Amino acid sequence: MAFARVACRAQVGLAAPLVSVEVSLTSGLPAFCIVGLPAMVVRESRERVRAALLNSRFEFPAGRITVNLAPADLPKEGGRFDLPIALGLLLASRQLRSGAAGERAAGREFYGELGLTGELKAVPGLLPAAIAARHSHHELIVPRANALEACAVAPALTRAADHLLEVCAHVAGTAPLALMAPAAGRSALRRHEAPPLLDLADVRGQAQAKRALTIAAAGGHSLLLIGPPGCGKSMLAQRLPGLLPPLDTAEALEVAAIASVGGADFSDQTLCERPFRAPHHSATVPALVGGGARARPGEISLAHHGVLFLDELPEFGRATLEALREPLETGMVAVARVARETRYPAVFQLIAAMNPCPCGRRGDPTGSCRCSPDVVRRYLGRVSGPLLDRLDMQVEVPPVPAGEFDEPAGERSAAVAAAVRHARELQLARQGICNARLADTELPRCCLPGDARGRQVLETAVRRFGLSGRSRVRVLKVARTIADLDGHAEVSVAQLSEALMLRSLDRVAARASAAPSTPCSRRPA
Ligand SMILES: Nc1ncnc2c1ncn2[C@@H]1O[C@H](COP(=O)(O)OP(=O)(O)OP(=O)(O)O)[C@@H](O)[C@H]1O
Ligand SMILES: [Mg+2]
Repeated sequence: MAFARVACRAQVGLAAPLVSVEVSLTSGLPAFCIVGLPAMVVRESRERVRAALLNSRFEFPAGRITVNLAPADLPKEGGRFDLPIALGLLLASRQLRSGAAGERAAGREFYGELGLTGELKAVPGLLPAAIAARHSHHELIVPRANALEACAVAPALTRAADHLLEVCAHVAGTAPLALMAPAAGRSALRRHEAPPLLDLADVRGQAQAKRALTIAAAGGHSLLLIGPPGCGKSMLAQRLPGLLPPLDTAEALEVAAIASVGGADFSDQTLCERPFRAPHHSATVPALVGGGARARPGEISLAHHGVLFLDELPEFGRATLEALREPLETGMVAVARVARETRYPAVFQLIAAMNPCPCGRRGDPTGSCRCSPDVVRRYLGRVSGPLLDRLDMQVEVPPVPAGEFDEPAGERSAAVAAAVRHARELQLARQGICNARLADTELPRCCLPGDARGRQVLETAVRRFGLSGRSRVRVLKVARTIADLDGHAEVSVAQLSEALMLRSLDRVAARASAAPSTPCSRRPA
């Protein structure tokens, strides 16, 4: 019996378990079977491998060929197993110098989809495999189209090839493939310090909304912008990534791994940039939180360490919005499938925007809004209370007065980003995490006002606005961020009052329950 074993990795969520591609050749009627839970695309590998071997002037082994992708109970997807299967066949049939070549193949992982002439094509989702291979100190042989991706993780272990014959020459030791230059990996992970394309100074007026955006950036807080059409809500949200500090190397690789698993092309240009995802309101639950036949990551995971912008919030399906509740708290989402559960990280910053009523002109001084209170109530009711409760700030964005368009531009994004970075450094030094993700047990040490007056204000606000326990915690965390931005060691009345001002829906709801009327029929003070 002729036998060979070649290593590769499967992909399960962000994990990349090692797969041993075992090839056995036995005498008997010609047959070629692949076992070990191969998906249809892996089974089709038989045809690609046969054509690639014949067109590369190898012989296709006669007799019974069994390919086992071990472990057998792990589902295998994609064309990445083509190259290891082809190499296994060549090693088992001794067309590649066995013995020494077989030993050289140990400690190496091979990835690549084969074209019918033997050329190597890119495989999706390689980054998690490269991360795992680096931990195991395994060498990676990948298609050249994946070289940069593998190189961002393991530059000293990556070799790239264009054709099956090049890989064969490398395994045989006749023409070793060169290691990628370490500089390629470093350049892939270089920080992009260029100023953001979208500048906060482009947004005229909207002082309170800009302040809220700065606080959101500084503490990693979620924010809801409520205002009429065309007042700059989307403009503001799009400028948030430009205020956030760049990703560090570990974060950048995590973000790139999720994008890679999600099927996005790898780009070293955007590697350290914070993701900004803005799904359309017709998005389904699987599109938002992850799912589908292959348990792909959803928008909330693709926004990991970045911004998820939900424009026209009430237009999203109720079930879609409700699905956000748990990940917003845990920073993790579990996509359950019949066979297994796949977990993806989802630490994202939620920025949402909505109009105050269906026509969007509620509260307009000209009185042009014709929406009845019932219509407004139904419109606002599309966003559930529990979801609103999870938003750290809810801010009104009024129409911009005509004169403000001619006034000098406000602060530029670069200046705000510098203040944000300083505030983040204070948070990391104090508690090792941004304020929005602070554990409740840390609240007394970090967020509670030091003086009796501050505590009194908090207590009165909880009573008057009927703040839930969660809202109270969020007010405290936002106040902590304001204190960090203002350079105060302790949270005081001024910061608490500003944090309370930034929860306009709570205040409006409190007044609405005091005098029966719709939340948007009055403008908050
Ligand atoms: N505050 C502003 N400063 C400068 N330009 C503005 C401002 N508000 C709106 N604009 C102009 O109007 C356009 C639309 O703004 P934007 O998309 O942000 O509105 P919006 O509040 O999101 O509206 P909608 O509720 O319809 O989504 C912008 O591209 C910009 O040209
Ligand atoms: Mg908009």
